[in-house]
Amino acid sequence: MSKRLQGKVALITGTADGQGRAAALAFAREGARIVGCDLKADLAEETVRMVRDAGGEMVSMQPLDLDDEQALIGWIEFAVAEYGDFDILYNNASGVRGGTIETLTREQWDYNLANEITIVFLAIKHALPVFKRKGEGVIINTGSIAGMIGAAMPANVPGNLVHNVSKGAVLRMTNNLAVELSPHNIRVNAISPGIIDTPATHGLIVTAGDQPWFDSQLIQRIGQSEDIAKAAVFLASDEASFITGINLPVDGGWSASGGAGQPDPEISALFGQAMAELATAPNSKA
Ligand SMILES: NC(=O)c1ccc[n+]([C@@H]2O[C@H](COP(=O)([O-])OP(=O)(O)OC[C@H]3O[C@@H](n4cnc5c(N)ncnc54)[C@H](O)[C@@H]3O)[C@@H](O)[C@H]2O)c1
Repeated sequence: MSKRLQGKVALITGTADGQGRAAALAFAREGARIVGCDLKADLAEETVRMVRDAGGEMVSMQPLDLDDEQALIGWIEFAVAEYGDFDILYNNASGVRGGTIETLTREQWDYNLANEITIVFLAIKHALPVFKRKGEGVIINTGSIAGMIGAAMPANVPGNLVHNVSKGAVLRMTNNLAVELSPHNIRVNAISPGIIDTPATHGLIVTAGDQPWFDSQLIQRIGQSEDIAKAAVFLASDEASFITGINLPVDGGWSASGGAGQPDPEISALFGQAMAELATAPNSKA
């Protein structure tokens, strides 16, 4: 059986761990050659070893700060020198700062914007000449339920102001660039993860326990990096050749339920009688 990304070259940002590492492994398993990068050198190198041990092909640059434009340009040049013009850019990396309107400092605000919006803008900007030369390309951006609804935390707990703002911007950038880059045969889509168990979130999940997350979702489990990697493989592959400009939530139904989760049995019972009466009420037009 032919592999779904056979012959493709995929640039993936933030491959040291979590979703970026899972994507590197999944894309390589599907036949892509991977160009990774991360701030974290040791873990990024470990990902390269894992991909190669599994029989895949991967090179990577680390430590690399995508917020350093010259370094980012160097990474694009490195990719082309290693594997030639590439097919896929998967913007996975992000650096977050928590805080509310009252606690967030200007410095934290600027850091988050730089490491969640600007690095995506810069990566696409500097990958574009390669895609134009090739006559096609696929871009996947990483949004979040954080960019879609409410506080995007269980029970709408606040504290993600600038993260939510940034992910909203990434989703809007995706939509805008799908239009702007369509004449160059470049598809631009986003994936919006819900709660995914990665080194970035593991502590929070352990501290809060499973229930608060389950209460916000329709599917009663915590998301795994592989859930996101599978969606990314699909969007990167030719199977998605008619799909551009979308935001694909991979969130166990968090966004579909507005973060309110499955129907509450007690509240459902409370409303039951009233709903039954409504069903038999005379039509107000009659
Ligand atoms: N884990 C979740 O629950 C969740 C939910 C929604 C969205 N997301 C998004 O999914 C993506 C991956 O998340 P994750 O949980 O795997 O996070 P993570 O923190 O484990 O991985 C992100 C990686 O990006 C790297 N990175 C950050 N800034 C960088 C920079 N300037 N240059 C180079 N590398 C940089 C980090 O070093 C890290 O290895 C992120 O965009 C995140 O915002 C995650």
